[in-house]
Amino acid sequence: MPSKTLKLRRRTQARRHAGTQAPLVVTIDGPAGAGKSTVAKLLAKALGVAYLDTGATYRALAFAVLQEHPEVLADEARLALMARYLPLRLETGRASSLRVFLNGVEITRAIRSQEISEAAAQVSQYPAVRAAMVAHQRALAGGRGVVVEGRDTGSVVFPDAPYKFFLDADLAVRAQRRQRELLELYREPTPLAQIRQELHFRDLVDQSRPVGRLIKPRGALVIDTTHLTAQHVVRRMLQRIGRARLS
Ligand code: DC
Repeated sequence: MPSKTLKLRRRTQARRHAGTQAPLVVTIDGPAGAGKSTVAKLLAKALGVAYLDTGATYRALAFAVLQEHPEVLADEARLALMARYLPLRLETGRASSLRVFLNGVEITRAIRSQEISEAAAQVSQYPAVRAAMVAHQRALAGGRGVVVEGRDTGSVVFPDAPYKFFLDADLAVRAQRRQRELLELYREPTPLAQIRQELHFRDLVDQSRPVGRLIKPRGALVIDTTHLTAQHVVRRMLQRIGRARLS
């Protein structure tokens, strides 16, 4: 007699292989401020699947490093070891938002600080760290339906994803969006010129680094979001996916 667990596993496998076969994986890549997070959450909600922000995993690692071992910030081997055993847990909160936990302690807001942004940019440069984080990201996706968002999700994390998107937008518009995000986060305005300069610098770094470089993944549909609302973008994605469920 097969055990209860075995029966359950078989039933899940059967369900997965009936109809569409593999779980629905959608990747969304693009530069900072192109609208990835907003769109990814809306799309995940519309499709009824999970949402995974890969940037949050690098931010969580940066948080752990600064808190426990700031001295290893430039030590690739030790960083990679920390990355590999990072006690990270992600939970979907309200409106498909993501809650991030390290060792069971919530760090969702803490990982959005400027200090963590800078440290995350640093740790994400190292190939050995990226390899460990990609393994985490695949495990966090967990073989279920998921919308994954980042910079290398369609090229490296899920190169076989059936639906890939690359969002882009003019620098000026991206800077305005980032300014709004920062205002929501810190409740005080950041000068637009400063944000624009930072984004421009980040674009150059993202496009020129040897690993985890920002590229348009093969087979990705490029959407310029400069003049589109998030709802428009999602509708276009749903049309592509063939499940236009947003009214
Ligand atoms: O998207 P974000 O700002 O939350 O990302 C935080 C840092 O992690 C940023 O420096 C880019 C990096 N990152 C990456 O290298 N690869 C990803 N897939 C996601 C983020």
